[in-house]
Amino acid sequence: MVQMKTIGIVTTGGDAPGMNAAIRAATRVAHSKGLQVIGFERGWEGLITDSCKTLTPRSVGGIIQLGGTMLRTARCPEFKTAEGMQKAVKTLNAHNIGGLVVIGGDGSFKGALELSKYCDTKMAGVPATIDNDVYGTDETIGFDTAVNTAVAEIDKIRDTAISHERIFIVEVMGRERGFLALTVGLTVGAEIILVPEAQCDLSEVVETLKENSRKGKKAGIVVAAEGCGKVSELATDIEAKTGSEVRLTILGYVQRGGSPTARSRLLANLFAEKAVESLYQGQGNHAVGLQNGKITSISLEDSCKGTKKLDTHMLALANMLAT
Ligand code: F6P
Repeated sequence: MVQMKTIGIVTTGGDAPGMNAAIRAATRVAHSKGLQVIGFERGWEGLITDSCKTLTPRSVGGIIQLGGTMLRTARCPEFKTAEGMQKAVKTLNAHNIGGLVVIGGDGSFKGALELSKYCDTKMAGVPATIDNDVYGTDETIGFDTAVNTAVAEIDKIRDTAISHERIFIVEVMGRERGFLALTVGLTVGAEIILVPEAQCDLSEVVETLKENSRKGKKAGIVVAAEGCGKVSELATDIEAKTGSEVRLTILGYVQRGGSPTARSRLLANLFAEKAVESLYQGQGNHAVGLQNGKITSISLEDSCKGTKKLDTHMLALANMLAT
C-alpha cells in the first residue's frame, strides 16, 4: 500500500454549525500524522475550478466557535455532469490527494460516492447537516445547534401565544424529513408536531386544538416541518375552522447559522478524527457516524442507500405530553 501524503477537505451542501470545528480537527489530526492538507473552496465547485488553499494547524486557528464554513460551500449542478466529474478528478490527481474528507449531508455523500467511481482518491464522509437525515449516524454535526436555536426562538413565541391566547404555527427546516421538527417540538412542549413521515390531516389538527381549548388551553404551538407543505394555507384553514387567532412564523435560515453548541463541536472533533484516522489506515470509501454512543463508520455506499427512520416513539411521547 502506498502511504498517502496529502488529504483534501471539502464542505458541501448547506452549511451547518460545527463545520469549522470539523475542518480544524481534520487538519490538525492529519498534521499530527505528517499529512499535508488542502482545503477546497465553495464545495464541489472548488474541485471543478481547482480553487483551494493549504490548511495548516495555524490557518485553522480561531474557528472552532464560528458557524458557517471558512471553506465556503455551494450547491453545484455542474458537479452532477460527467464533464464536471472529470474536472474534479483532474484536480484531485494534480494535488495528489490520497483521501478526501467530505463534510456535508446525504447529497454530499452521494456526490462523493459518484466521484469515487472515477478516481483512486478514498472518500471519508463526515455527516454535517441541521436536518439530521443521514443514514448511519444517530446525529449529525449542526443538528444540536439548530435544535437549540429553534427552541430558544419558540420559547419566545410562546410568551406571545399565551399572552394573546393565540395559536402559532412555527415552520422549521429539515427538507423532506421531520427529525428537526420532532426534536424541537418535543423539547418546546408543542401542542402539535407535524412531520412528513406521519401525515395527519387538517380535521385531526383542528379537533386537537378545539379539545385543548375546551380543556382550558387557549394558546398553542404547532411545530411543522417544512416538508409538510404550505404552512400559510394551514394557518388560514386552522383559523377558519377553530375561530382562534392564528399566526405563522417561518424560522428559516436562523436555524443554519450561529456558534455551534458544545455538542456539535464535540461531534465535529470526534467525527473528523475518525475520518482522517480511517483514511490514514487505508480504509475505503466510508462515512463516519455516531451509533449508540460510539463513533463508528459504515461504507459510503450503505450510507447513501439507507433511509434513516424517524423515532415514532418520540412522536407518540410528544403527543402524550401535549395533553
Ligand atoms: O439541508 C439543509 C437545509 O437548510 C434544509 O433544511 C433546507 O430545506 C435547505 O437546506 C435549504 O437549502 P438552500 O440553502 O439551498 O436554500
